[in-house]
Amino acid sequence: MIKKIGITTGGGDCPGLNAVIRAVVRGAVNVYDWEVLGIQDGFDGLISMQGIKELNPFKVRGILPRGGTILGTTNRGNPFKYKIMVGDKIEERDMSSRVKENLALLGIDALVMIGGDGTLFIGRDLMKMGIKLVGVPKTIDNDLSATEVTFGFNTAVTTATDAIDKLHTTAESHHRVMILEVMGRGAGWIALEAGIAGGADVILIPEIPFDLEVIARTIRDRNKKGSKFSIIVVAEGAFPKGGEAFFIEYKIGKKTVKTLGGIGQYVSGKIGETLSMESRVTVLGHLQRGGSPTTYDRFLATRFGMKAVDLIAQGKFGQMVCLRAGKIESAPIEEAVGQQKLVDPEGEVILTAEKLGICVGRHNKWVSGEMK
Ligand code: F6P
Repeated sequence: MIKKIGITTGGGDCPGLNAVIRAVVRGAVNVYDWEVLGIQDGFDGLISMQGIKELNPFKVRGILPRGGTILGTTNRGNPFKYKIMVGDKIEERDMSSRVKENLALLGIDALVMIGGDGTLFIGRDLMKMGIKLVGVPKTIDNDLSATEVTFGFNTAVTTATDAIDKLHTTAESHHRVMILEVMGRGAGWIALEAGIAGGADVILIPEIPFDLEVIARTIRDRNKKGSKFSIIVVAEGAFPKGGEAFFIEYKIGKKTVKTLGGIGQYVSGKIGETLSMESRVTVLGHLQRGGSPTTYDRFLATRFGMKAVDLIAQGKFGQMVCLRAGKIESAPIEEAVGQQKLVDPEGEVILTAEKLGICVGRHNKWVSGEMK
């Protein structure tokens, strides 16, 4: 018998999280008369017990168009490997039993966990400890195979497409190569969809290691035909043939941390060397994760949130909501985690790009004449 549920957002934020929270709260209160507790900063809140707040339809009023998450989040809060300072050293401790104890202390019968792959992995392991939960997938990267689309992706692609539109006008005026670096660690969906929608000339994604010679040839051909500018969209995780992804290192106190970055500058340097053309790099970064969700993302996030509540009411714990053939369904978290959805290098979307004349970093047989 469910009386009270908890809701938490873990991992990197993305537009649409608040729409899920709102739908969960409205569904839980309006339909089932449950109490809802909002947990602050992912699982951190269930360890520290700080910032836990009661949510009701009045408290979630006006959050639908807001980006981010009213509950806060962290992508470093794994309770099974919880980092704590011991003297001046960071040590890892298993705090999962604390999470279970605190859920009982709060009287939470079931948890709605909104998160990406990392958070869902944690959820799978918490379930094995007897914690009742359901998952709501989110990532702007759209790389979870269990769902056709994740909310946040549409907003991110819209932001990236808008950036390409803006770069076009300045590229054309200055006869430059403009390089837009977008997010996408292992999957190039944002680069690919925004690149096609924005009319990019070159799209580089992690799934297709690129050949610099082919890119140079594409730009040279464009120049010869009178287009003295080019737009390259590159996913942060893309890399050259035989090479590796590029990382930037920075310090947090004494600790050195690595994050993906630098591929745009690398491509720019090579364009300058081989083509003697001027290029400029724009790194779109976290602008893709911020801002108001698009209509599509608000709609999807709201349906996901309501389905999560219904799954709890039906006792279908351990399930993750998902979109399949336009319908909101669910899949076992166990099966859903760790299955990355990558761009198929021979799939319809890539072939559409190539037939349009876009270079995806490899020889394009569709425009070379050999397919005629
Ligand atoms: O998972 C989404 C994502 O946007 C990745 O594409 C990106 O590499 C990562 O998050 C960056 O996350 P953060 O800067 O929050 O660590």
